[in-house]
Amino acid sequence: MTVKYRAAVLRRFGEPFRVYVLEEGEPGEGRVWLRVRATGVCGRDRVVWMGGFRNLKPPLVLGHEVFGEVEGKPYGVYPALPGPCGEPHCAILLGEGVPGGYAEMVQVPRGNLVELPTRDYPRYAAAVCGVATMMHASKVAGVVPGDRVLVTGSLGGVGIHGIQYLAMIGARVYAYTRRRDKARILEELGAEPVHSLDFYREKGRVDVVVEVVGSKTFNESMRSLRTGGILVLVGNVEGEPIVIERPALLVMREIEVKGSAAYTMEEYRQAVSLVGSGKIKAYYKTYRLEDVNKAYQDMAEGRILGRAVLVP
Ligand SMILES: NC(=O)c1ccc[n+]([C@@H]2O[C@H](COP(=O)([O-])OP(=O)(O)OC[C@H]3O[C@@H](n4cnc5c(N)ncnc54)[C@H](OP(=O)(O)O)[C@@H]3O)[C@@H](O)[C@H]2O)c1
Ligand SMILES: [Zn+2]
Repeated sequence: MTVKYRAAVLRRFGEPFRVYVLEEGEPGEGRVWLRVRATGVCGRDRVVWMGGFRNLKPPLVLGHEVFGEVEGKPYGVYPALPGPCGEPHCAILLGEGVPGGYAEMVQVPRGNLVELPTRDYPRYAAAVCGVATMMHASKVAGVVPGDRVLVTGSLGGVGIHGIQYLAMIGARVYAYTRRRDKARILEELGAEPVHSLDFYREKGRVDVVVEVVGSKTFNESMRSLRTGGILVLVGNVEGEPIVIERPALLVMREIEVKGSAAYTMEEYRQAVSLVGSGKIKAYYKTYRLEDVNKAYQDMAEGRILGRAVLVP
């Protein structure tokens, strides 16, 4: 039996999405249909949409932050699906290697389902990826309680949820944002807002930079690191090359630059539980599937606090 469902399709990079009715047959062995209730629009999706991932070819149904129902029960989907070799490095990302959550229905492996403690789907869609991403990045950087950590892009989806996690594990968080009028929110979340990357002249240097924005802030954020400090690169929102402007600084201070990619199933489960218990506050704005282009526009114009969440 085939299933018909609506999905927002990316037909060409940089062009508006269009909603189509798609048709698909029964799921194969070990796979199930999930009825989508909410899908987060990750900063990564925007980079894909811009054409920043050369290995991907449209048409694509994006969306790896997918939450919904299977047989009436609430689940999230751990988005790294088993790939051909079974090892983490060849995992297939939901919404890139296979159709994702910008849709009413999605087929996923049963083994990737994680039960949700509640049915507040948009809250999970808003916060889980950001929290799990920061959990992983903080391990890559070896953050310990008392560490001074700078996070860039702190009012975006990864930032606003990730800083809450860092504060929770006892880091002293400096949250960089361009939006001065939202500083209060960052304070309430346990971080110290900064609006200039020169902040270290007054506040002192940091142990770790979690670089979420990438090219636009990389060089300035690196300057705030102490000798032997670590910059962990999480994102590059513009998808453009990053040039190290002052290599001497990197050499003389023995700065380490590392990458952090995604998160493990265990980190995903922990993030679900932190969001479910309310320990992490979710920030989002919901859009109907048909309004996905409006969501992208609002994201580009900095009008969303946290995540744009699609609700079919
Ligand atoms: N490594 C991983 O596992 C992983 C996981 C998820 C996402 N990512 C990556 O992380 C990046 C951010 O994702 P996201 O979901 O947080 O995106 P998002 O919700 O769109 O937020 C991005 C934030 O970056 C800041 N920003 C954007 N353009 C800027 C500019 N020109 N100068 C300074 N700041 C700028 C803004 O922060 P303010 O509004 O506070 O100024 C914005 O809110 C993306 O590149 C994504 O691919 C990586
Ligand atoms: Zn994501």
